[in-house]
Amino acid sequence: MDWQAFWNERYNVDDYVFGTEPNDFLRSVADQIPPGPVLCLGEGEGRNAVHLASLGHPVLAVDQSANGLAKAHGLAKHRGLSIETAVADMADFQILPGHWSAIISIFLHLPPELRRSVNQRAVLGLRPGGLYVSEHYTPAQLAHGTGGPKEVALLPTLALLREDLQGLELVIGRELERSVVEGSAHTGQAAVVQVLARKGGATPSAETSWT
Ligand SMILES: C[S@@+](CC[C@H](N)C(=O)[O-])C[C@H]1O[C@@H](n2cnc3c(N)ncnc32)[C@H](O)[C@@H]1O
Repeated sequence: MDWQAFWNERYNVDDYVFGTEPNDFLRSVADQIPPGPVLCLGEGEGRNAVHLASLGHPVLAVDQSANGLAKAHGLAKHRGLSIETAVADMADFQILPGHWSAIISIFLHLPPELRRSVNQRAVLGLRPGGLYVSEHYTPAQLAHGTGGPKEVALLPTLALLREDLQGLELVIGRELERSVVEGSAHTGQAAVVQVLARKGGATPSAETSWT
């Protein structure tokens, strides 16, 4: 499967496939991101990147799809904002070490080895106090059929993400079912895993649960 061609084709429409509003979980924690640059991985059409730019962060959005990132620039321009973008496969993309105030991974579903490698690079990429924010579908999503990959290997669990993200302190880590209404592609009750994790001396909140 040529995933780059798949996503370029998918984004080759006027509508924003995942909408123009940010992911709900990211929106709920975005005010905890310290000032400074933010890296959005697998950012597609830019809804999350543009939201973070609206909060004052310099944002770099990475995706394999040039069509998606062209729409991301269009959305930013429409809001009177600007973002930087990089067309790249996550297998090749170098995450600048110790640089980022936050690294965001929303519904970026990668094969297990690449997912682990990207997440380990993300841990190194955060500056002290920086945040990793992610939401993904879990294997339980296969029963819902409301979005996401159909291949179980592409669907991470909280336990897998905990292993990937060793070196970060967990602030929020939970698997849950929620209604996801994000564009036409993600709509309905869904099984997701949400992570907010911090680099360096933060105290985990009462929500912490790695089980
Ligand atoms: C489900 S979409 C989510 C887009 C965006 N994060 C959002 O929440 O709207 C998944 C995105 O990941 C990108 N992607 C998947 N595998 C990738 C890879 N290996 N390298 C770069 N981008 C990738 C796709 O091109 C697609 O834009």
